[in-house]
This record gives sequence, C-alpha cells and structure tokens, in this order.
Amino acid sequence: MGRRRQIYEGKAKILFEGPEPGTLVQYFKDDATAFNNQKKGTITGKGVLNNRISEYLFQKLGDIGVPTHFIRRLNMREQLVRAAEIIPIEVVIRNSAAGSLSKRLSIPEGTLLPRTIIEYYYKNDELGDPMVSEEHITAFGWATIQDIDEILSVSLRINDFLSGLFLGVGLRLVDFKLEFGRIYHENGEPQIILADEISPDNCRLWDVKTNEKLDKDRFRRDMGSVEEAYQEVARRLGILPEGGPRDMPGPATMQ
Ligand SMILES: Nc1ncnc2c1ncn2[C@@H]1O[C@H](COP(=O)(O)OP(=O)(O)OP(=O)(O)O)[C@@H](O)[C@H]1O
Ligand SMILES: [Mg+2]
Repeated sequence: MGRRRQIYEGKAKILFEGPEPGTLVQYFKDDATAFNNQKKGTITGKGVLNNRISEYLFQKLGDIGVPTHFIRRLNMREQLVRAAEIIPIEVVIRNSAAGSLSKRLSIPEGTLLPRTIIEYYYKNDELGDPMVSEEHITAFGWATIQDIDEILSVSLRINDFLSGLFLGVGLRLVDFKLEFGRIYHENGEPQIILADEISPDNCRLWDVKTNEKLDKDRFRRDMGSVEEAYQEVARRLGILPEGGPRDMPGPATMQ
C-alpha cells in the first residue's frame, strides 16, 4: 500500500485517506494530553492497546445493532472506518460522579448518581470544549432535535451495554465520552453513527472491588502505572496476548 494522504492530526490519533472513497484510516498514537492540551506526554503502547480495545467494543456494539463507523482493524495501530461528518459535540455519559462533575458540584468521586446523566460539550479546543445544552446545539445548528433524540437514545443503550460488559470483567464504568458523525446513504438519507474511539482514554474505569483507577486519570493525576492500567483493561477483556502490546499478533492471527 502506498503512502496515504494525511487528513488530520489530532492529539491521540492521525486520520489518513482510506483505500476506498468514504473511508478513513485511524492511526492510534501513544501521545496523551489532558486538561485541554496543557499536560502532554506519551504512554508507551497506548496506541496499540486503544486500537484493539476500541475495535473490540465497536464490534460488540455493532453486534447489538448500534451503527458505527468501524469497518475493520488493519494492523497494530490502524483501523479502517467510514468517513463521517463529525457532529461537533462530545457526549458525556455519567453513572457515578467523577472529574469535572465532582469538582463543579462538589459531589465526592464515586458517588452513584440517582440516574444516568448526559452532558454535551462543544468540540472546540480554543474555547476549551465548553459545556452546552440542547438549546445551544439546535440554535447554532450543530445538530437537529431529531439528531439529539437519536444520539441520546443510542448513548443510553451503549451505556447499558458497556456497563454490563465491563462489570462482567470486574470494572465499573464511571463515565465515558462518545462522538457521533453523520453519513449519507445513496438515496441521500442521513444516518447518525458512532465514531471516534472508546478506550481508557475516554472512559473512567474503576476496579469494582478496590476502586483502583484503570484509565487516563492515572496520567492526568500522575498516579503512575498508566501503561499497566491500559494493559489490564485489555487483559480483562481477554484481548491482550501474553507479553503485552508489543507481542500482539497481526490481524490475520487475531480473533
Ligand atoms: N469516522 C470519522 N470520520 C471523520 N472524522 C472522525 C471519525 N472518527 C473520528 N473522527 C475525528 O478524528 C479525530 C481523531 O483524532 P483525535 O482523537 O486525536 O482528536 P483530538 O485531538 O481529540 O481532537 P478533536 O478536538 O478534533 O477531537 C477527531 O477530531 C474525531 O472527531
Ligand atoms: Mg479525540
């Protein structure tokens, strides 16, 4: 395969033009950022692990009928996805209090929320991804009311499914972030699909018994053992071969 044209370089991934029209290649880097890019670092092997973890979760979500951008994993660091028009909203789904919610409203981290809370943030680095309401989203034309209805119901379905999946491997899904995109079918019909990635970069995952954090908070808060935490998530999901991410076999030999 020849050199691919780079379309975008983000903080955690690079997007390349895909082999067919309407496709993209997502390349997962080891770079890590936090606090709107103020803290930067690398987590060795993170890209390999997130590529594999996200593949696994997107496949499982596809299996239960959630439309996603995922097509297939190409190699250790790359996956082929459908190109979508990204809706510039980060959807945060919270089951327990943590992070900014705990800080803003002074709710101790780990407090089980009376019900799942969904928040929307406008994807804009210069503005520091500010929280917005449905009113802002529709008034500024980032998405329609119908889009939001769809995003909300599919997000809750994803939350139910992933909460159960993680609980099954001894992990509590405290909160997570999703991104959605729009694709158009041949007849011009638009469809909202799940895009981007789901990994310990954008999920808070705590050990059910010990409350040990196994996610990017270890990097944000300088807790150490960041790589090990990501590996542990992959191991519990049953997708980490002995020896760690460097020994991961190629696509042909992986399930
Ligand atoms: N299927 C898709 N089609 C088009 N763009 C996508 C798709 N899936 C994810 N993206 C976009 O690709 C980029 C992934 O890169 P990365 O996660 O590194 O971005 P980021 O640094 O978090 O920056 P951003 O603020 O743009 O999200 C994001 O901008 C994301 O919205
Ligand atoms: Mg991102």
